Amino acid sequence: MKNRKIYLIGNWKMNPGTVKKAKGLAVDISVGMESANKSGTKVVVCPPYPYLELMNNNMSGFELGAQNCHFEDQGAYTGEVSPKMLQDIGCKYVIVGHSERREYFAESGELINKKIKSILKHGMIPILAVGEKDGEALNIVSEQIKVALDGIPEKYAKTLVVAYEPIWAIGTGNPATPDEALSAKILIRKTLRDIYSTKSVDSIPIIYGGSTNSKNIKSFIESGEMDGALVGGASLEAKEFIRMAEAIN
Ligand code: PGA
Repeated sequence: MKNRKIYLIGNWKMNPGTVKKAKGLAVDISVGMESANKSGTKVVVCPPYPYLELMNNNMSGFELGAQNCHFEDQGAYTGEVSPKMLQDIGCKYVIVGHSERREYFAESGELINKKIKSILKHGMIPILAVGEKDGEALNIVSEQIKVALDGIPEKYAKTLVVAYEPIWAIGTGNPATPDEALSAKILIRKTLRDIYSTKSVDSIPIIYGGSTNSKNIKSFIESGEMDGALVGGASLEAKEFIRMAEAIN
């Protein structure tokens, strides 16, 4: 665990419902992380867009990420937010390809590829989420990666994070086993090696997401050999999210 960089990334999704609650949660995480995170874990919090600015002010203990973006810098795209704006507001990371975006907003692999190119152009790190539906073969993950990274040069490989998130495990309280996560990690590595050199691929963090909490995170990092977690529900409770950082120590 010591030599690897471990990521703990909180995806708040469309929560909490008010600025007041968002501020409270952010402050609690910020204060708690300072003493809890003893091992240099990369903690990232991805709130909804309207809360990004307030979290950028005087928050320590975590870096800022967004949950989505458009691929153009600006223009007539009603309701959209550009990577340029996110970079300008202090975001370092952007989640892209989350299964909820693929499913509810019909995001295609080609669109995800455009977004990743734009995120990289603006110096941020894409957190590329991939995963299979219940009953689907794991091979779909290879396809998702190949399409998402199409045409992205080797030099960017070191600024990627890949999150393996089996869709059946998201928000269900029914996580994958560490062994299942490890099998997916091996396949993801193999797929990445078809695109980039082994040296570059070995530097790409591959994290797990889907019903993680303070009780199971350690097993994903140890027996599952995952480089951290993308956390939904458990990141909305400051105490639990902080316990996850403690479990990683
Ligand atoms: P969950 O969500 O931790 O609530 O399962 C994970 C995710 O969707 O990133």
